[in-house]
Amino acid sequence: MFAISLGDGAELRPLEPWRAEEFFAHVERGREYIGRHIGFADAAADLDSARGLLQSYADKTAADTGRLYGIWLDGLLVGGVLFRVFDVGLGNCEVGCWLEPAAAGRGLVTRAARVIIDWAVRERGIHRVEWMVSSDNTPSINVAKRLGMSRDGVLREHYPHRGVRQDIEVWSVLAPEWLSAHGTR
Ligand SMILES: CC(C)(COP(=O)(O)OP(=O)(O)OC[C@H]1O[C@@H](n2cnc3c(N)ncnc32)[C@H](O)[C@@H]1OP(=O)(O)O)[C@@H](O)C(=O)NCCC(=O)NCCS
Repeated sequence: MFAISLGDGAELRPLEPWRAEEFFAHVERGREYIGRHIGFADAAADLDSARGLLQSYADKTAADTGRLYGIWLDGLLVGGVLFRVFDVGLGNCEVGCWLEPAAAGRGLVTRAARVIIDWAVRERGIHRVEWMVSSDNTPSINVAKRLGMSRDGVLREHYPHRGVRQDIEVWSVLAPEWLSAHGTR
């Protein structure tokens, strides 16, 4: 089975619909933490909707328009990274991430995001990798900075989350910037 080591007992693997029960149990452990700024946990409100969320990404994978990967730490699913948008024709993608709280503060998402961005840039010819984040979400903004992204600007009151419209910052890294920072191989 495909798995990429992230070091320190962590692995990155595709997160597919057959893992719905494991995924739902993970979301339940992190529901409040994961859901503070993004709708991801709310979209997996019960087992059926959790399975539906995984299926929607399986469909995106088949269409090459998005992908979802889980992070396992010592065999437990603790979070993941995703291509929410993946547009090879335009050469653009948007990366997202989440963790349950017990797995935060170890660099797991930064390491996982590096793996998938590297693949997108080197193997799929993606030119622009975006990171969309609420202005209030400092831990996620810090991930964007660790990934070497630049702040493009802010979409004011762009995203309604739990009844409150949030300012969304757009961060990005371009392929030449990524390759210059990580080697052209
Ligand atoms: C966004 C989120 C994933 C960030 O989690 P995180 O643990 O801070 O991010 P990382 O996994 O990259 O870990 C970085 C932290 O580990 C530390 N760290 C330890 N070892 C590290 C390593 N080898 N490499 C990088 N960082 C390391 C870093 O110093 C940093 O801690 P600090 O912020 O206290 O300085 C998390 O806050 C989350 O899930 N939030 C809810 C969902 C969400 O908002 N998602 C983002 C939507 S835009």
